[in-house]
Parts: sequence; structure tokens; C-alpha cells
Amino acid sequence: MPERTPTKPVLNFERSIGHINSIPLGEGRTFNLGTRRIAVFRPRNGRIYATQAECPHRGGPLADGVLADNNIVCPLHEFRFNLERGQPVGNECEALKIYPVRVDDAGELMALLDPER
Ligand code: FES
Repeated sequence: MPERTPTKPVLNFERSIGHINSIPLGEGRTFNLGTRRIAVFRPRNGRIYATQAECPHRGGPLADGVLADNNIVCPLHEFRFNLERGQPVGNECEALKIYPVRVDDAGELMALLDPER
């Protein structure tokens, strides 16, 4: 189970994106936040990761990929990316954008998003 932290947002750019139970263990889901889409992953190791929703290769839906340890494997062409840092693993694609995410006392997923550009 991910570590729980206080409900109150810690910074102005932190947003609730849904309840932890909206993501089955071992899977990912896409969330729409205004004009932005992010993918949130709940691997079986108890961690939570959030990245850009679309693969930087050709826009594959990363949340539909396969979680393998701390990596996500894109469902379109099977490029692999590390979820801790966003770095490509075994391919030359650009890195994923990573968003800090936590679970608060109420089980809400709280993502820290930089301001919209
Ligand atoms: S679109 Fe993700 S690997 Fe090609």
C-alpha cells in the first residue's frame, strides 16, 4: 500500500486526480486534467507513478501498456521507459515527462503539476 500523507495540498500546483482505488493494482489509468492528460501507474511494488499520457515515440496510450517492475512497456511498439525518471530503456526515444504523485489520508491521488503553458 502506498504511504499515506496529509489531505491538504502541499503546494498550489498539487491537484486531486481521483481515488487510488480507481486504478487496479498492477495497472495504469489515464486522467484528464484540464487540457492535460497524465497516466498514473500502480505497480505491485506499492509505488505510484505519474507520467505524460502519450508515448513520445508515436503517441501510444501508455496507461494501456504493461507494467514490468518500475518500467512501462508501450502497447504500440513495445518501447520501454523507466517510471522513476522517465528515461527510455533500450531505445533512443525521448524521456517521459514525470509528475510527482502521492496518496493522501483519504486515498486521493494528489499530483504536482507545473503550471499550464
Ligand atoms: S508509440 Fe509507444 S513505442 Fe511506439
